[in-house]
Amino acid sequence: MPKMSVLVSREELQAKTEELAKRISKDYEGKDLLLVGVLKGGFMFLSDLCRALTIDVSVDFISVSSYGNQTVSSGVVRILKDIDYDITGKHVLIVEDLIDTGLTLTYLKDLFTAKHCASVKICTILDKPSRRKVPLDVDYQGIIIPDKFVIGYGLDYAERYRNLPDVCVMEEL
Ligand code: IMP
Ligand code: MG
Repeated sequence: MPKMSVLVSREELQAKTEELAKRISKDYEGKDLLLVGVLKGGFMFLSDLCRALTIDVSVDFISVSSYGNQTVSSGVVRILKDIDYDITGKHVLIVEDLIDTGLTLTYLKDLFTAKHCASVKICTILDKPSRRKVPLDVDYQGIIIPDKFVIGYGLDYAERYRNLPDVCVMEEL
């Protein structure tokens, strides 16, 4: 294991998830809500979030990857796995692990909006607003973190460390 330190503990993640779930359960009471998890990173937060909700929801996933050079986000997103069903008329809540430049979610929000959903909103457990390249309305904003590369709770470094229960900063990459 590389040297790492905990930036956001599992207890803080759980408390924030419960707080967001309460708001979402209230806001979508009586509505047909579809949670769309953004793979792969969003899988862990989505599984915790949906169990904390007190309303009935459907769950789907989308998998995306940025085109070209990983370090320069172009805003062009390639869909590796699309959602399975027609989402026309549904209330869609996109569930993300971390918003960084905002390019991925801007793309996904536009994509879903074009499919004539009843509404499209965004929920993220972590946010690095200081890194934003495009303005983005985050409807359910989790924990704000500084501009550091983090791993754990779904987030990877070269596909590893997604299973760490806390969000950690690697001291040496
Ligand atoms: P963006 O908002 O389009 O720049 O993309 C955000 C996505 O990039 C996140 O959902 C993560 O999957 C990934 N990402 C951004 N920052 C980090 C990080 O610090 N660690 C791991 N993945 C990250
Ligand atoms: Mg992600």
